[in-house]
Amino acid sequence: MNNTKETNDWNAKKYNKHADFVSALGMPVVDLLNPQEQEYILDLGCGDGTLGVELEKLGAKVLAVDLSADMVAKSKEKGLDAYVMSATELPYKEEFDAVFSNAVLHWVKDARLAVEHVYDALKNEGRFVAEFGGHGNIEQIRLAMKEVFETKEEYGAFNDPWFFPSEETYRNILEEQGFEVKYIEIIPRPTPIDDIANWLDVFVNGIIGHLTNEQQITFKKEVREVLKEKIYSQEEGWVADYVRIRVEAYK
Ligand code: BEZ
Repeated sequence: MNNTKETNDWNAKKYNKHADFVSALGMPVVDLLNPQEQEYILDLGCGDGTLGVELEKLGAKVLAVDLSADMVAKSKEKGLDAYVMSATELPYKEEFDAVFSNAVLHWVKDARLAVEHVYDALKNEGRFVAEFGGHGNIEQIRLAMKEVFETKEEYGAFNDPWFFPSEETYRNILEEQGFEVKYIEIIPRPTPIDDIANWLDVFVNGIIGHLTNEQQITFKKEVREVLKEKIYSQEEGWVADYVRIRVEAYK
């Protein structure tokens, strides 16, 4: 796993089937962005394009980027102007009225570099509105994976690919870049999912990509067993322990 770049190890079909809640739960971020007619907006980590389309319905013009070619293809199918691109290699200079990002920046370990690129991409007084995993996000899931890695020497080290900052850490990163932070908040958001097995299928390929197929199957089974005690109940089913950080900042 490259620690300075976000992963693009997605399975688009499984993502569509088991992770469509990601954009469904992104609407409050669209509301916070409050796009205006004719605004030019960069959708950073556009995923399958669902939210970018919402921005266009509200009258904005969207340029969508994502590291996953599969996701970019889906965004194009939905009619968006979309490109494969990393958050740490954005080439734009003072082009956008706003940069919008939902559920992606936790994949970017080099948050400072991403924020620098976002800042450069914005026009003066442009806004950055984003939500992603905040401090404590998927703590139980992360600990369960770490626990299983620790019982299997042959798996090697558990390399956590995520960046889940506190309000203080992310505010500092934004302010050091020159942003004025209007709003920043950590929001616990327990999220019902269909089955943790499907969640693991979609999201942890980067962490276990070096294991054999058999080891991957065993890993997922064992993580599921550990988590059954922690995030599953008969009444509520599987509930992932998501925590969001939501931010609105101005150049
Ligand atoms: C998230 O949206 O918080 C998330 C999703 C998959 C893996 C890690 C975090």
